[in-house]
Formats: sequence, structure tokens, C-alpha cells
Amino acid sequence: MSEFLEGLHPDSLVVAAGRPERSTDASLNPDIVLSSTRHPGGEIGYGRFGNETWSALESAIEALEHGKTLIFPSGMSAINSIFSLLPIGSVVTASRNGYTGVMNILASMARNGQIEVRYVDVSNTEEVLAALPGSSLLWIESPTNPALEVADLPTLIAAAKGLGIGVAVDNTFATPLLQKPLDMGADFVMQSVTKYLAGHSDVLMGSVSTKDPELFNRLSDVRKFGGAIPGPFEAWLALRGLRTLSLRFERAQDNAMELAKRLTTHLAVDRVRYPGLENDPHHERAKKFMAGFGAVISIDVKGGAAAADKACESSKLVTYATSLGGVESLWERRHRWSSESPTIPTNLVRIAVGIENVEDLWIDIDQALRRSQE
Ligand SMILES: Cc1ncc(COP(=O)(O)O)c(C=O)c1O
Repeated sequence: MSEFLEGLHPDSLVVAAGRPERSTDASLNPDIVLSSTRHPGGEIGYGRFGNETWSALESAIEALEHGKTLIFPSGMSAINSIFSLLPIGSVVTASRNGYTGVMNILASMARNGQIEVRYVDVSNTEEVLAALPGSSLLWIESPTNPALEVADLPTLIAAAKGLGIGVAVDNTFATPLLQKPLDMGADFVMQSVTKYLAGHSDVLMGSVSTKDPELFNRLSDVRKFGGAIPGPFEAWLALRGLRTLSLRFERAQDNAMELAKRLTTHLAVDRVRYPGLENDPHHERAKKFMAGFGAVISIDVKGGAAAADKACESSKLVTYATSLGGVESLWERRHRWSSESPTIPTNLVRIAVGIENVEDLWIDIDQALRRSQE
């Protein structure tokens, strides 16, 4: 990382990091390098081993997460690259309420006899601490998707590291703007770059960052020989999106806070889950070490799954779709996916708040929720 970047704030880093060296007529932005094949004698050698456009995005994420970074073609491939480092028979302690893709892959690895999984409520510190002895890896998603539970990251990371256990944090919901798990001692931090970092719902990408050079080299080999490599164009698009991360995230968080407050008194809503609300069970903890509360809200819609579906189908500005982190607001009933965790209520609707005008969002959400009760 260039020296001058070191003192910059994250909202400057998203703009300034990952740019080519300055020289006469050099491009301001990285070029999209498409070659699979190269002349001999250089550091890259072949298209699966490295790429200048990947490196530009990697160095920008490195500046934000504070660890050397590798990008992958999706968040899931980034996650699988970490799991692939586990020796057969390893015990993994992981969120019970985590992202369904992770729940699926952990269950399938356990079924195949590769690992044993201890599922915990990551927001219940005592429960996690009790599960740790004998684990090889603590997998923490925080805030969790979609229940928005917040883990006590500093305590859990310190406890696991004290026992010599590896720690990986899925930082997708918080982004490096709100928390930096590597600085708290985690071994890995991963991002579904698809979400806030890229930010425009037009690219799938993942990243893993670590401060440990040996782990970095092992992961780099996983990518090189496993072959899960990102496309240069997608890397370029993701970096282009990252330039506005601070602005987008700030606006989306402001919108989320306002909508969460209004939703608490809505007649069609049984419960609002958002760590930014003062009476949310995770508020005090989040305030201690997060620089904000994120831009996802979950609500339990009165009237059960049918009413929740009706609400999602009745919105116009807010799109009924899965994903989050884009400029546009989305919502969905999570249990429309059969893979959703049984501990998530069937009437829970996850709202991925975007950067539209908050009054327009409220008018749309309010009318859709009213219709859900008809
Ligand atoms: C918290 C979290 N982690 C990981 C992923 C997987 O990322 P991707 O869809 O980029 O593979 C997602 C996707 O929704 C997610 O929400």
C-alpha cells in the first residue's frame, strides 16, 4: 500500500486506494487486463495466477480491512476457500442463524464427514465460549443475516485466539467502515463484495483478507490451484462501485434508522430488528465497537407468512428480490427459501435499505404493509 494512504480516513481510502502508480499519461483508473497468457520472466506468469485488475481491487480492500486480500468470484467461493484449509475432522463453531449459503455448506461438509459443526447463537457470548474448546475454527457472522444479532467480537476473538483457535468473520453486513475484525485479532475477514462494496447489484465477487502471510499464501494457492478466479471486468466493476461506498452506506444507514423507527409503531409489524434502535437487544453491544448499525432491517409481519408475502408483492419502489447492499431497496420473506434456518420466524421480512428518498420509501413500505393486512 502506498505510504500516503496510511493516514487517510476510510472515506478517502475508498476513493484513493487501488489506483495505478502515477507517471506521465498513466491511467487514473486501473485498466481491464484480459490476457490469460503472458510472456515469461514476470511475477504473474499465467491468467489463473494473478491479474493487475484483481490487484487494484485487492489493494483497495486491503487498505480498508487492514489485511492482505484475495478476491474470489463470489462471497461463497471466498468462504469455501477458507473452509478448504480445514484438516479433515476439524470442529467448526459457527452461527446457528447465519447466511443460508454458509449453513448449507457447513451441513454438507458435516454430512460428508469432513468436519463437525457446533452451532451457536453468536450473540450469546457464554454459549460461544462454552463451545470453543476443541474447535479449530470459530466462524462469526455479525450482524447475522437476517436476524441482525450482534456478536461480542472483541471478547469472542480474544477468547478463541487465547485457545489457539482460528477466527474468521463474515463482515458483509457491517463492511470495513463499521468494524475491522482483523484489528481485533481475527485471522480472516471475508466480504460478499457483491453487496455493499460493489454496491450496484450488477457483479458477484468475494474477498478474504488476513494479516498472516502464511495463511495468505495458503489461500492464494487455494485460488490458484482450485481455479475459483474472478473475471477482470467484474473486478473493475467492483472497484468502480467501491469508490462511492462511504456515501452510499451513509445514506442507506440514515434511511434504515429512520425507517426502523417508523416501523416500530406500524400496525402491521409485530417486531422490528435493527441494532440501531435503542430498545433493540443488540444496541448497547453494537454501540461499543461498531461505528454504525448498518442498512438492513428485519421485521416480523403481523398475520404470518401469507401477510408477509402479500406485503412484499405489494411494493413498487422497493423491489421484491433477494440480496442487499445495492443502491436500490429490496425486501423479501426469508422463508421463501427452503434453506432458511428454522430458527428464523416464517413471517420475517428482510429489508435491504437503499439510497432512495426516505419519504418515498416510507410511503411505499407503509402502503404495502397496509395491503398485507386486508
Ligand atoms: C452475510 C453473507 N455472507 C455471504 C454471502 C454470499 O455472498 P455471494 O452471494 O456473493 O456468494 C451472502 C449473500 O447473500 C451474505 O448475505
